Amino acid sequence: MARSMHENAEWKYRGEGNCSLVVADPETHQVYRLVKTYFTQAMETLYPLDSSEPCCDHIVMEMRKIVDYVTNVMQPLLSPKFVTPPVVAEISEGFAEEAEKTNQDMRPASRRKKSVDLVDVRSRSALVMPDFCFVSNRDSIPVELEESQPTISIEIKPKKAFIPSPVAIDRTSIKHQVCKFCMHQRLKTKAGKWPETSHYCPLDLFSG
Ligand SMILES: Nc1ncnc2c1ncn2[C@@H]1O[C@H](COP(=O)(O)OP(=O)(O)OP(=O)(O)O)[C@@H](O)[C@H]1O
Ligand SMILES: [Mg+2]
Ligand SMILES: [Zn+2]
Repeated sequence: MARSMHENAEWKYRGEGNCSLVVADPETHQVYRLVKTYFTQAMETLYPLDSSEPCCDHIVMEMRKIVDYVTNVMQPLLSPKFVTPPVVAEISEGFAEEAEKTNQDMRPASRRKKSVDLVDVRSRSALVMPDFCFVSNRDSIPVELEESQPTISIEIKPKKAFIPSPVAIDRTSIKHQVCKFCMHQRLKTKAGKWPETSHYCPLDLFSG
């Protein structure tokens, strides 16, 4: 565990996915990635809990795996200049509930309905990392504009850029011809989740 949290911060909503809700401290320019129930449920399905083991210990172990992955895989591949590994930090009791409650209006409607989207209040830790909605190297920005200019942050999601070839799948199966992302796109459009499928295919990104 490292880093103590800034107790009186006004936590700002940064975004969320299936696994976590992310809030930022505007003073320290750090974000806290809080785990959702979806994450802990998936974790418990994969590694059923031993009754002597508290759930929060398990969550910390999973967070450490993420830190290890970023440190040992992402950073050497992409350079320390661009990759800052997160830190596992202790969070105070009630913080997760408070961060979720005060940011409720910022969240997409679809995320406010399901129980899996609730922050898991049993967790006593969060992954802390720099807030990428803040540019630290602002040398090129005139001082008078510094505070008033918003930062536009772009997340690039390449998705899974390969077709898996397990022997268990019949060679003639569609799963050997179409990537998982494209299959999911069709499924989501059919289910009415998106109005149309994306024209992006992850295989194209690496096709040259
Ligand atoms: N360091 C950061 N700075 C600013 N915003 C962030 C940062 N990390 C995450 N976010 C925002 O929070 C959202 C959710 O974070 P993240 O993608 O890590 O969680 P997730 O989608 O639940 O998990 P995963 O992507 O691992 O399945 C991101 O899409 C992004 O909008
Ligand atoms: Mg995500
Ligand atoms: Zn594809």
